[in-house]
Amino acid sequence: MNRLNTTFAGVSMRNPLILASATTGWNGNGCHRAWLNQAGAVIPKSLAPPTKFAHHPRCGRMKMIRHGKSRIGMVNIELYTTMGLEDWLHTELDKAYEGGSCIIASIVAHPNPTETAGNARTIEDTGKVAMFEINVSCPMPADQSRVGFQMGNDPETCYRQVDALKGAVSLPVGIKLTPTTHHMVPMAQAAKSAGADFLTIGNSIRSFAGVDITTGLPRLPAYGGYSGPAIKPITQRHVSEVAKAVQIPISACGGVTTWEDVVEYLMLGAATVQLCTSIMWRGYGHFITILQGLNRYMEREGLTSLDEIHGKTLPFISSIEEVSQRPPMVSRVDPGLCINLIKGGCEMCGKVCFYDAIEFSPRLTLKPERCDGCNLCVEICPVGALSLEHLNP
Ligand SMILES: Cc1cc2nc3c(=O)[nH]c(=O)nc-3n(C[C@H](O)[C@H](O)[C@H](O)COP(=O)(O)O)c2cc1C
Repeated sequence: MNRLNTTFAGVSMRNPLILASATTGWNGNGCHRAWLNQAGAVIPKSLAPPTKFAHHPRCGRMKMIRHGKSRIGMVNIELYTTMGLEDWLHTELDKAYEGGSCIIASIVAHPNPTETAGNARTIEDTGKVAMFEINVSCPMPADQSRVGFQMGNDPETCYRQVDALKGAVSLPVGIKLTPTTHHMVPMAQAAKSAGADFLTIGNSIRSFAGVDITTGLPRLPAYGGYSGPAIKPITQRHVSEVAKAVQIPISACGGVTTWEDVVEYLMLGAATVQLCTSIMWRGYGHFITILQGLNRYMEREGLTSLDEIHGKTLPFISSIEEVSQRPPMVSRVDPGLCINLIKGGCEMCGKVCFYDAIEFSPRLTLKPERCDGCNLCVEICPVGALSLEHLNP
């Protein structure tokens, strides 16, 4: 029994892990390798850019963002495929399709939706793709041409792109929305009302890669897209906000690195997830590692289908106004765990208590009357000795 089988926007997939549109699928061979490594579906690098953007920088276009020695994300200034649509169809598609891959064609939204739709029809005629994803979310182009993420910030544009494709092709159509927005719901609603079959949330986030402080030069010479583990909280916000507001299948894309990330996104209302940076950092075999973790999790939890956890978290996401009315909590310490109470030293919680609710006289003493229930001491404690409890349990 394959417990990870899923049906996404009417298309059957062997599991919910999808190779996101990026460098990893820049040619047919890359897509095929992802398929051989058990991806549930593969999305080639975005096709058919307006001619003006057909060249991406070849003088270095990816920079790691580190915190200490750990990689927390990556900024890139890569654009769309450098291959023309006809070339891709003639030279790469057969290889990508080898073994019956489930292919989702990513199409760059042309400012004229009729052009986007024409490209989709040409691709559909091959009979080798399963669905379409319209890309209105590339974070790089920012001039007057209003392509990329600028299109994805306009509900009307999202509507017209989806509407044009729905009128031109019979396969399911989705749209990949941009997290470089203050509120994604209007775009999601517009896409749904135009007949979108699914949404991909989201893309990399428009950002800056930092400064080389020896030379004073930017680490990358243009604004780019931030991706990887660091963006997961931002993408999770968008996925859950849209999932609560719009009834439509969602493919979550942002910082998926572990099987736990996959479970989180499913619980936030996604039906599939897409992986880019984690595959770029670890190779296509990472799909298998994540699937093994997911299988073990489902076995342990006694789950027979992913539907059982779909959207589980959503009812518990509240508003800040409601949460601030809840009864206050204060921190408490477990004397059997606290380093300071056992042998002295540490005192990390005291350094981060800005309400003077933790004193050392000479050992840790909590002052519940001053505690503001912020939880920072709980988060900073290296041994999990602190927790919050209700003031009058
Ligand atoms: C080097 C690079 C190239 C990318 N190229 C594309 C692209 O051509 N089309 C697209 O829709 N997204 C593209 N993306 C965005 C990814 O598909 C994905 O949405 C984003 O990186 C967030 O997912 P992640 O955190 O798993 O990387 C690219 C990302 C990277 C890092």
